[in-house]
Parts: sequence; C-alpha cells; structure tokens
Amino acid sequence: MVDVNKHLSERSRRLRQSAFADFFAEAVEMERSGEDIIHLHVGEPDLPTPPHIVEAASKAMDEGYTHYTPPGGILELREAISEKLRRENKIDVDPRREVAVLSGGYNALFCAFQALVDPGDEVIVPEPCLPQYWGDISMAGGTPVPIRLIEDEDFRPDLDDLKRKITSRTKLILINSPQNPTGSILKLKDMKEIADLAETNNLLVLSDEVYEKFIYDGSEHISFASIEGMEDRTLTINSLSKTYAMTGWRVGYVAGESDLIDKIRMISEHAVWCPNSIAQKAAVAALKGPQDCVRRMVDEFKERRDLITLGLNQISGFKCNTPRGAFYAFPNIKRIGLSSTDLAQMILRKAKVAIIPGVAFGESGEGNLRFSFANSKENIMEAMERIKRVLDSSPA
Ligand SMILES: Cc1ncc(COP(=O)(O)O)c(C=O)c1O
Repeated sequence: MVDVNKHLSERSRRLRQSAFADFFAEAVEMERSGEDIIHLHVGEPDLPTPPHIVEAASKAMDEGYTHYTPPGGILELREAISEKLRRENKIDVDPRREVAVLSGGYNALFCAFQALVDPGDEVIVPEPCLPQYWGDISMAGGTPVPIRLIEDEDFRPDLDDLKRKITSRTKLILINSPQNPTGSILKLKDMKEIADLAETNNLLVLSDEVYEKFIYDGSEHISFASIEGMEDRTLTINSLSKTYAMTGWRVGYVAGESDLIDKIRMISEHAVWCPNSIAQKAAVAALKGPQDCVRRMVDEFKERRDLITLGLNQISGFKCNTPRGAFYAFPNIKRIGLSSTDLAQMILRKAKVAIIPGVAFGESGEGNLRFSFANSKENIMEAMERIKRVLDSSPA
C-alpha cells in the first residue's frame, strides 16, 4: 500500500476543508433522508440564467463553437467587457492588452495572487471575508493580514487598523465592495483614504467587484480603479456569475495594467488554457443584450433584503444591520451565548434552515451568522418563523 499522504506537497497539506463544505454536505444529507431544508447558505442567485443568454450558448454549440479559444478569452468578449467597463465603471482599458477572461471570479483571484504574491509577502484583507482569499494568498506563499470591519458602522473597514498593518512586506490591499459576507459597501471617502495609503506606500489594490449590481437604497457602485490616480494601481476582478445568474457558466475577468494582465493570462494558460468557449459566447450576449433582467432581479432582491432584515431583528438575541449590497445578511448573535458554529448547527438540525456560521469567514466573524437571501420571499418568511420557534422553545 502506498501512503499517498507522504507524497503530498506542503501546499496541499496546509489546505483545509472549508466550513461551507461541511454545512453544505450535512444539509444535502438531511435533504436526501427526506427533510424539508430551506437553503439560506447559498451564494448564488436562485433565478434562472435569462433565456437570451442560454439561446446564445445553444447557437454557439449548434454552430460548432466547441473548441479551444485563445487564452485570456476571445476578442469579441474582451471588447464587450471593455465597453461595459467604460460605460458603467468609468474604467478605460484596451481590450487587447488590459483585459483577460478567466474561468470565473475564483479563477481570476487565484491567478491574480499567483501573479502578484511571493513567499513572505503580506496582503491586507478586510475580515470577515470570502475564505478563498486566505487559501489563494497562502498557496502563493504569502500571508493574509486581516483588518477589522466595524460592525457598529455598517461594517466599514477600520482604516486606523489598516494603517497599523502596513509593513515593508505589504504587497497588496484587497477590497471587496459590495462585501461578502457583511453586505457592506465602501464609501467614497474611505476609498479615497485607501487610495492615498496605496499611493503613499506604493501598494497595489485588488478590487473584487463581483456583487457590483447588488446595491440597494439608491446608492451607486464605485469602481476603485475609477478613483483618481488608481487606474494603474488597481486590478479589478469581476464576473458574470452573480449579475446574470450564471454561476455555473464560469466566466470572470480581470482588468488592469497590461504587464500584470499578461502574466495573469499566462498563469491561466497553465491551469485551464482558456475559459469555456460556449460560455464566452453566452457572456457576449449577456453584456451586450438587454439589461432589464438584472434590474428586475435586483428589485426582487431588495424586497427580500427588507424582509429578512425585519425577520432577523424580530428573533430574540439577534441584531441585524441592514445590508446595503450583495445578498447576505450578517446578524450578530452574541446575546444568544452560543458559538456561531453551534448555533448554525442547531438551526440546521432543529429548524431545518441551512446557513453559514460567521467564523467560516474568519475569526472576526465569530458571533455572527451569514444568511443568504437568494431564496423566495415565502421561504425566507418560513425560515424566520422556524428559527423563532426553535429558539423560543430552547433558550440557550
Ligand atoms: C466576494 C466574492 N468574490 C468572488 C467570488 C467568485 O465567484 P465566481 O467564481 O462565481 O465568479 C465569490 C463567490 O461567491 C464571492 O463571494
């Protein structure tokens, strides 16, 4: 018998199964045994991909568009992305040199960290955050350095903490607005202060904007690269996953300075060669086609946001900020007196509602739970009722 563990790389040994996967596996198992589970842990729109996008993919297949494409994506798609960035994000990029298409935002993040981070480098990451950031940074040999998000101020980043954490090893500041898991959005004033810090300390900024369309209450998304002086210092990461309910299609992209984009494209060649050809054609249709499907989805999500915030604040021991963006609510549950893992487990097992414990997004997420409101209003209301019933009958 070969003990394969002895052959594993140090890199892969350090990898841990995410708490997401644990909760997902348990919820699926319960469902398989006949339980009626409400899924509020899912990070993707529950609506179908709009039909005109699906049709473009069908057409591509019918026409035999089923082969390799150039690494970094077809020019037609890179042009559609650069037009979109100019029109909506005030970012001016050359589609030939300053945009690359990758297999989703996750692939874009992975390749970006591979291109930028050396062993010993530090990357500043507002936390709680998407756990993939830490794994990607660590796999590149770097160290993620968390900075605090201030819950009482709508989870805005603690910029004094950020200043304190900048060292001679800092390479990059990561920002994510709208943010997963807190639903916060960065204010222009804070962005400008981060821009000043990046400039003074000669740092790059990686701006993850995959939730850009999910903004409520009349605010507007501001792309970090559109801030004066930040165009060349910012690597923008975006994806079609959330905007067009296209998570399974795996189309994401990076935009930024041409030498960096070139390296990211080369790294992606080693991982996947090119993004899926059919999905690229669908992505062109998504970006160039009618956008009312996006507006309708966001209007619907705003109603769900209002419903879940109200419902969560009616549960004794829960205190929930109103999320300004994305599709997550991140209530504080410290008054209940259980860890986020124990409470999430209890809610899954007794109320049959699947959610994610805050600690899965970093230690600073302990004391909160993440609820996704990418589910129907009926299911959200039913989930709130179930949780209330369980917590009222089993006080901690
Ligand atoms: C903050 C954030 N960035 C990036 C991604 C990656 O999304 P995708 O790979 O589907 O584009 C996600 C997915 O949940 C996310 O929450």
